[in-house]
Amino acid sequence: MSGYVLAIDQGTTSSRAIVFDEKQAVAGVGQKEFTQIFPQSGWVEHDPEEIWESVVWAIRTALEKAGISAAEVAAIGITNQRETSLIWERATGKPIHNAIVWQDRRTTPLCNALKKAGKEKVFTRKTGLLLDPYFSGTKVRWLLDKVKGARKRAVAGELAFGTVDSFLIWRLTGGKVHATDATNASRTLMFNIAKNRWDEELLDLLGVPKELLPEVKDCADDFGVTDAGLFGAAIPILGVAGDQHAATIGQACFEPGMLKSTYGTGCFALLNTGDELVKSKHRLLSTIAYRLDGKTTYALEGSIFVAGAAVQWLRDGLKIVKTAAETGALAHTADPGQHVYMVPAFVGLGAPWWDAEARGAIYGLTRATGAAEIAKAALESVVYQTRDLFEAMRKDWKGSGQDTVLRVDGGMVASDWTMQFLADVLDAPVDRPTILETTALGAAWLAGSKAGVWPGAKAFAKSWARDRRFEPKMDPKVRKAKLKGWDDAVRRTLS
Ligand code: G3P
Repeated sequence: MSGYVLAIDQGTTSSRAIVFDEKQAVAGVGQKEFTQIFPQSGWVEHDPEEIWESVVWAIRTALEKAGISAAEVAAIGITNQRETSLIWERATGKPIHNAIVWQDRRTTPLCNALKKAGKEKVFTRKTGLLLDPYFSGTKVRWLLDKVKGARKRAVAGELAFGTVDSFLIWRLTGGKVHATDATNASRTLMFNIAKNRWDEELLDLLGVPKELLPEVKDCADDFGVTDAGLFGAAIPILGVAGDQHAATIGQACFEPGMLKSTYGTGCFALLNTGDELVKSKHRLLSTIAYRLDGKTTYALEGSIFVAGAAVQWLRDGLKIVKTAAETGALAHTADPGQHVYMVPAFVGLGAPWWDAEARGAIYGLTRATGAAEIAKAALESVVYQTRDLFEAMRKDWKGSGQDTVLRVDGGMVASDWTMQFLADVLDAPVDRPTILETTALGAAWLAGSKAGVWPGAKAFAKSWARDRRFEPKMDPKVRKAKLKGWDDAVRRTLS
C-alpha cells in the first residue's frame, strides 16, 4: 500500500486539503476561502454547501498538485474548526439552516438563563467547559427552537446534528456514516468527558433530543469510506480530531506537561495533562486532548477568540496593510515611546475572562499614533492574551512550571518579531517547528498510523524538528511595566 495520506483541514475561514507522502512531507495542497456571513452584530454563520464545495475542490486540487490519483491515497484524516454546529436531514443530507459558527454570540441570553438557574456547575463538572455561547449545545438548542418544525422532526429521528467533521463524514460517505470523534464531542456541552458518553442530564437541560446525535469514536478509528463517485476511488477515513487537538498531535505533545499554542483565526493553547482530568481554578477548560485505542488523554485549554482575526481586521477593516504578512514589518517601524494597547474583544473575551458582552478597545492613542503603532498593538495583544493563559496554566497544574517550553504553530508564528516578543512576555522559551502544517499533519498522522503506513507515536514524536528556539531576554522591569499596561487595558474593557 502507498504511504500517501490526505488531510482535510476545514478551518474557520478556509478549507484546505494536503497530501502528505510516506516521508510525511507535503506533496500537494488545495485551499479555498469561503464566505463569512454576519447576519447581525455578534452573529457568525457559514453556508454548509459552500463548505462542502470548498472541501471537494480542495481535495481534487491537492490530488492534482501531488500528481496522484485517489486510489493511491491510503487514508484520509479530517480536522476541523470546532464547536461550529449544524443540523441536516438524514434523508437528503440537506442542512436545515446555515452552520452557527463557534464565534457566534447569539445564545448569550440562553447561557445567562442557565447560569442564573445555577446550572453552570453541573456543565463544568461533566464537560470541563463553561456556559458560554462558544460551545455547540446552546447553538443546537437555538436551531431547534427557531427553525420551523425542527424539534418535532428531530424527535422523529429525521434530522442529524454534527460539528463540521460529522457533516463532512456524512457527505463523504454518501450518508452512510453519522459519527464524530471524542475531541469534537468534548466541545459540545453535551458530552461527559470523564465517562466518555453523551450525557442525558445535560441533554435534558439543553432540550436536545438524543436522536440527533452522532456516534462517538476514537480519533484513529474506522469512519467509513468515501463514495467512489466523488474522487474516482473509495478512500478509507481513518482519523478525525478537532483542529486544536490535531495540532497538539502534530506538535507531538504526547507527554504530560507538553504545551502548544496555535495561532489561526483565534489562538488556542493546550497543555497535555495525561490521564489526569484537571479541574481548572482559573477559568481554563478541561478537554479531551485525544482518545486513542479507547484511552483518553486530557488537556487544559486556554481559548482566545481573536488572534489572526485581529490582523485580518487591520487588512480588511482598517485597510492599513494589504496582506497579513506585512503586519510584522509595519509593527517593527512603530515608535517605541508610545504605549498603545489593543484589546481585541470583537466577539467578547474568552479564557480566562469569559466575558461574552465585552467589545474591543484601543487605549493610549495620541496625535502621534499611526498605522504602525496600531499594527504593533494588534500583534502584541495576541502575545499578552497568550500570557494570560500561560499564567492560568502555571497556577492550575503543578507540572507546568517555569521550565515549560511552548511549541507554536499557525500563520502568525512566521513573524520572528512576534515570537521573540512572546518568549519575552511569557519569560519562557518558545519553539517553532520546521513543519508549520501542524494541524493537518496531526490529522494525517491519525489516519496514516491507523492505516499502518505511518510510524507509531514514539517514532513520530522523534521526527518533530525545531526550526528555531526563541529565548526570553527582556529586562524584567520592562516586562512588568508592559504587563501592567495590558492588565489595566483588559480591566477597563470587561463589561
Ligand atoms: O474552537 C475554534 C477553533 O477550533 C477554530 O480554529 O484555527 O479556525 O482559528 P481556527
